[in-house]
Amino acid sequence: MSGRRPLISGNWKMHHDHLEALHMVRDLGLRLKTDDVALVDVSLHPPFTDLRTVQTLVEKEGIPVSLGAQHCSDEDAGARTGEISPHMLARLGTAYVIVGHSERRTMFAMSDITVAATLKAVLRHEMTPIVCVGETEEERMASHTEARLEEQVLAAVEGLSPEVIGRVVFAYEPLWAIGTGQAATPVDAEDACVFIRSMVGKVAGGPVAATIRIQYGGSVQAENAGELMAEPDIDGLLVGGASLQAASFLDIIRACGACYRF
Ligand code: PGA
Repeated sequence: MSGRRPLISGNWKMHHDHLEALHMVRDLGLRLKTDDVALVDVSLHPPFTDLRTVQTLVEKEGIPVSLGAQHCSDEDAGARTGEISPHMLARLGTAYVIVGHSERRTMFAMSDITVAATLKAVLRHEMTPIVCVGETEEERMASHTEARLEEQVLAAVEGLSPEVIGRVVFAYEPLWAIGTGQAATPVDAEDACVFIRSMVGKVAGGPVAATIRIQYGGSVQAENAGELMAEPDIDGLLVGGASLQAASFLDIIRACGACYRF
């Protein structure tokens, strides 16, 4: 009975233009019942060009999901061609921002230092960062998973007070599990989440570590969502491919609600 309210996040990545987004969110809104979100929080993370469309629809129809973004700049304004400011996201009512997704880290050279700066920028604008950490296949094979997680978690929260660290959501996303259809086993995902929590405890103390939410992400489907969520230290899911369609995303939300624990 953790007392942590699960967070199920749909990371659309570079999928769905604004019309497809409208269609998906309308569909989700029609299917989603109050009961489905009585025990879990849900966030949608569409591409930037869809955010305003999704925000307007969610507000107008009263759809019980929060708006999320996939990334943002660590600066509020300036000469940053192609970047999106956290201030702009906050003005749209964005509640959650994914920070340091492995695709940003690997394809766009986002370093642990930039992850930490972006995390601070998101917090400065009163949004909740979802900080992604996880090991590569090579690191896993070399038994370096914990060393890599330690490095990423400590770098992300360096210099933050325990109180501020308490506002961060972590997502354990092993790189080898993302988009491969090969999810971590519930036991391995749980072990990693326990380890991440212990790292948070090291810098912010046990009480803060006990309250922060840690998601698992990587090939989550309706079929494995329940068993992952049944693990005591997994407090939610970061879902890529299976969040693109309302029906499959809703199945995951329902599977999580079914194993809710207090
Ligand atoms: P996936 O992506 O569910 O498609 O594996 C997860 C993620 O990258 O957040």
